Amino acid sequence: MKTIELAKKYHDYVIKMRREFHKNPEASMQEYNTCKKIKEELEKIGVEYKGIAGTGVIATIKGSQPGKCIALRGDIDALAVIEETGKEYSSKVDGLMHACGHDTHAAMLLGAVKVLKDMKDEIHGTVKFFFQPGEEVGKGAKKMVEEGALEGVDSIMGIHIASMLPVGTINAEAGARMAAADKFKITITGKGGHGSAPHQCIDPVVVGAATIMNLQSIVSRELSPLKPAVVTVGSINSGTRFNVIAPNAVLEGTVRYYEPDYYKTISEAIERIAKFTAETYRATAVVEYENAVKPTINDENCATLAQETAAKIVGKENVVMVGPETGGEDFSEFSSIVPGVMTKLGAGNPQKGACYPHHHGKFEVDEDAFVYGVAYYSQYALDYLNKN
Ligand code: NI
Repeated sequence: MKTIELAKKYHDYVIKMRREFHKNPEASMQEYNTCKKIKEELEKIGVEYKGIAGTGVIATIKGSQPGKCIALRGDIDALAVIEETGKEYSSKVDGLMHACGHDTHAAMLLGAVKVLKDMKDEIHGTVKFFFQPGEEVGKGAKKMVEEGALEGVDSIMGIHIASMLPVGTINAEAGARMAAADKFKITITGKGGHGSAPHQCIDPVVVGAATIMNLQSIVSRELSPLKPAVVTVGSINSGTRFNVIAPNAVLEGTVRYYEPDYYKTISEAIERIAKFTAETYRATAVVEYENAVKPTINDENCATLAQETAAKIVGKENVVMVGPETGGEDFSEFSSIVPGVMTKLGAGNPQKGACYPHHHGKFEVDEDAFVYGVAYYSQYALDYLNKN
């Protein structure tokens, strides 16, 4: 297949780009040099592009034949992780590392630009390449959408490299993939005083304890047992001394789920439980609740096509199913507006040290996966445009 042949032809280029990005990681929404490098490469390749969302870039290739518009997305930001791989292309920036593989996404997407530029005459429509900033903070995709990235786009496809899947496999499945991630903060106000005289006080620690216990009934008693959700209180802060009753307490937590309407259901339940539990004990509670990322739900038709394309690249037996994850992914900002599919590209290989989880200081990938990734981006765009 031509996309695989071309992906092989550009393999060394993609490795070089990946290592370049890997050596120079940048924090979310501050990917200034990465963005500059991407623009320089696009300039060299000779395709149309524009900056977006501060440090993002969209490149466009219009095919020789009319048709729809597909966007291919790769995120580009790094993480506050100290690199421990010992590789010669290790991070040169203290405390920052491409520990989630977004360097590989940027490099593979550049590879796909090269492949599809060569195949321009075979493209029925338009391909847009989304080099997205700020995925790790859930801000980049939102900002790109606000600035009109999806105007004229009919569908979107994304790849995430995966060190926990063997190199040579691809995952693309319909339905819930990554969870929504919400954040909440409950501020309980009581009345402080002496620990020996609780009757003169309203103890916010007791209210906080009761609130945490009552929140446990949301998942167990209010939500369907067939639709998973997580409500976690991750921190509780109150008090200064063993014999002082504090005036207030602050609880903070996260919520994960796949059902889009759970945003409303769970935020209302937390509000209600916090407020009435506080009232039971004569205290008051104020709840702040915000959504960081929506759930990533793969469109049925896109997922079917993504499996068919994957089978052409790695063989049907290597198209694997892994089920949903409770991590978040802001690809959902795009795929909640246009039909889309988020896929995973296997890059695990213990013999090459690619056996550590994402966000680990020893995170590494098997670079052989890039041939499949570049071919997959390219072939999916061609297949989508041919079919629609
Ligand atoms: Ni990631």
